[in-house]
Amino acid sequence: MDREQKYRRLEQASPEEIAALQKQVKESEWRQTYHIQPVTGLLNDPNGFAYFAGEYHLFYQWFPLGTYHGLKYWYHTASKDLVHWRNVGKAIAPDTSFDSHGVYSGSGIVKDSQLHLMYTGNARDENWNRQTSQCIAVMDENRAVSKWEKPVIDQVPAGYTAHFRDPKVWKDDDMYRCVIGTQRNDFTGTAVVYESPDLLEWRFVGEMGTNLNDFGYMWECPDYFELDGQGVFLFCPQGLAPEGDRFLNLYQSGYVTGKPLNRETLVFSHGCFHELDRGFDFYAPQTMKDMQGRRIMVAWMGQPEIGYPTDSHGWAHCLTLPRTLELCDGKLLQKPVVELQKLRQKRSDVQDTLTNEAKTYDGIAGAAFEMICTFDPLEAEAVGIEIRSSEKERTVITYNTVMQKVTMDRSMAGEIINSSYGATRSCRLVAEQIQFHLFVDTSSVELFINDGEEVFTSRIFPQPDSKGIRFFVNKGNAHLKATKWDLT
Ligand code: FRU
Repeated sequence: MDREQKYRRLEQASPEEIAALQKQVKESEWRQTYHIQPVTGLLNDPNGFAYFAGEYHLFYQWFPLGTYHGLKYWYHTASKDLVHWRNVGKAIAPDTSFDSHGVYSGSGIVKDSQLHLMYTGNARDENWNRQTSQCIAVMDENRAVSKWEKPVIDQVPAGYTAHFRDPKVWKDDDMYRCVIGTQRNDFTGTAVVYESPDLLEWRFVGEMGTNLNDFGYMWECPDYFELDGQGVFLFCPQGLAPEGDRFLNLYQSGYVTGKPLNRETLVFSHGCFHELDRGFDFYAPQTMKDMQGRRIMVAWMGQPEIGYPTDSHGWAHCLTLPRTLELCDGKLLQKPVVELQKLRQKRSDVQDTLTNEAKTYDGIAGAAFEMICTFDPLEAEAVGIEIRSSEKERTVITYNTVMQKVTMDRSMAGEIINSSYGATRSCRLVAEQIQFHLFVDTSSVELFINDGEEVFTSRIFPQPDSKGIRFFVNKGNAHLKATKWDLT
């Protein structure tokens, strides 16, 4: 792709071109029914997630004119309930010298009746060297956005490369702080912390004191918060080699937990690194704390640098559903926010005991649904479900009690995606009974297992009429209980 095309600005596209693109997107059979997805073009990281002036605001990285990672804007969506989102429109455009080559990721914080959006300005000089700065735009109660005149952090501190981005800001009692993802001059990834009394003057405090000193070549989209008196640090390390069932996607997204970050020394003593999600398509999560004190996370349901089947339909990617995070023995549990129950339409129930068999049930089928299904008691070698199935297609979810593993297999899910990274994902799960809580949309599946102990998030691209759901029990028997709701 030539640079000119990659860095095309919205105003360079004629109204006819945009209308044609919109028409093409509208006709795509893989448009989602209840997920946030781009009006046209490519969506990536969620940004600026916050509650402000009576609504949740959720922005995303957006390239409007194609399905490649071109010139990035922030697109704005808003919701009163975390379920029904309104497309507000373009929020921040790359129109200054300091963000001319992309309004990159960042976060939101409310101060003085304005939502402050702190983001990375990406610019290139005449020799195409990357220049990064951290900038602020403010949104007022009428949803009008204006940029501050100049960056608030205009230098990369000594010791780090120009890969220095994605500020996540929070407020302690007396101080604003932000964590920024970066790369050391020795090409290892890390994150640094800044502090500010007013969001305007920032002081470099130092590096986040983890013990992960040689853990990938770059850390993107860091996020730090405290939950039940524990520190939680989320980040996306790039460049980890696969290890068994772990780190199988191109880039990873995970967290460590420990004692709260020491604000002076930045010492953060923590446990081991956990992947946040075990599926194929999950990256760049961002959290916010809402009015009820919940820690809510949303992520990009995609991976960088990989083609997807909707590319030829003029759009790419979507966001995950919002999930609450809870801590249990140093591990995060993820649960779909309860508000999602508002989407529930027609309900169907099944109860049955299955012995070495696979079964379908009347009324249990669909392309956009929520389903909670348990196998308990579980006296079999393997149990599972096939969703979005037809004669030729199916996505298979299995729990193997001997190997104590959950597996998601999308090798026959429909249109092939990114097959060089494999077509199955697995993780170990020690459990006596199993509960699969599924949110399936036209082209995605989010699977929460045993109350969010593990989550698999994946895109799938089946034919519209692949709507079957089949339950199976191998070598033994298990009692099945399933409740399914159509979602619209
Ligand atoms: C992560 C990321 C961020 C960057 C943004 C650019 O997906 O690479 O580090 O700010 O996307 O779109």
